[in-house]
Amino acid sequence: MAGRLEGKVAVVTGAGSGIGEAIAERFCREGARVVAADISGRQNETARRIGASCRAVHADVSRSADVQAMLETARSAFGRFDILCNNAGIDGAMAKTGEYSEENFDQVWSINGRSIFLGMRYAIPMMLATGSGSIVNTTSIASIVAFPTMIAYCAAKGAALQMTRVAAAEYAAQGIRVNAILPGPVATGITRHMPAEYIEGGQARDPATAHGGAVRAGERGLVPGQRRGVLHHGRGHDRGRRIYASLMRSPLRQRCARG
Ligand SMILES: NC(=O)c1ccc[n+]([C@@H]2O[C@H](COP(=O)([O-])OP(=O)(O)OC[C@H]3O[C@@H](n4cnc5c(N)ncnc54)[C@H](O)[C@@H]3O)[C@@H](O)[C@H]2O)c1
Repeated sequence: MAGRLEGKVAVVTGAGSGIGEAIAERFCREGARVVAADISGRQNETARRIGASCRAVHADVSRSADVQAMLETARSAFGRFDILCNNAGIDGAMAKTGEYSEENFDQVWSINGRSIFLGMRYAIPMMLATGSGSIVNTTSIASIVAFPTMIAYCAAKGAALQMTRVAAAEYAAQGIRVNAILPGPVATGITRHMPAEYIEGGQARDPATAHGGAVRAGERGLVPGQRRGVLHHGRGHDRGRRIYASLMRSPLRQRCARG
């Protein structure tokens, strides 16, 4: 039986580890061909493991030239371009706002925030030329929940969610879907460094099976004019809702609300 992404070509950033690596593997199992982009060099290992349907590309998602070259690789290697997963990200330094360094803020913003703009900026004209496309931005529960000592991460993820809504509203009528996923805790390099109380809303999950742990922006009615389903097939996101509800009830949240 054909996979759900048969014939599609996707670019996945941050595909050298964690969620991005799992996305690349799953997409290929579903019949897609994937450009696995990362800055770490581990994307080569991802591509080697997956085989001929995956091509590794070195790209720094905060650099415009790298982003454009990464997207062009989809066309040159596989002849078309259908899906962009803007997934690469870092947690960045942790410090209270009054002590957060400007350098650390700029670094987190450029990798988690500006990169979302760059990816969409250069993917959308390519998608308009073919009349269809799907962009999936990995944001975070931190787009909507305040985590103390993570000013840069929360700001960038909040902005990424808003950029998703703007682009979705702009291009829905032209056949381009733009969605955000807001993962809860997933066991990757990022959660290894996080304080335990930031994960209390739900246990960190294996990236390969974590799809049910995301709150989907479109499903929450945040994106006007958007068809349901992040790619083709909508999934239940009950666990995401549970994590969100649990974070809202948690002592951390109550502490934030008290200020
Ligand atoms: N793990 C979680 O609990 C969680 C929760 C919410 C959101 N997220 C988001 O999921 C995404 C993936 O993170 P992950 O958890 O898989 O972590 P991860 O550290 O395993 O993977 C992130 C990948 O991004 C790559 N990367 C970092 N900077 C880059 C750059 N400038 N250019 C290109 N690639 C770069 C890294 O090399 C790494 O391979 C991130 O955007 C993260 O913020 C993760």
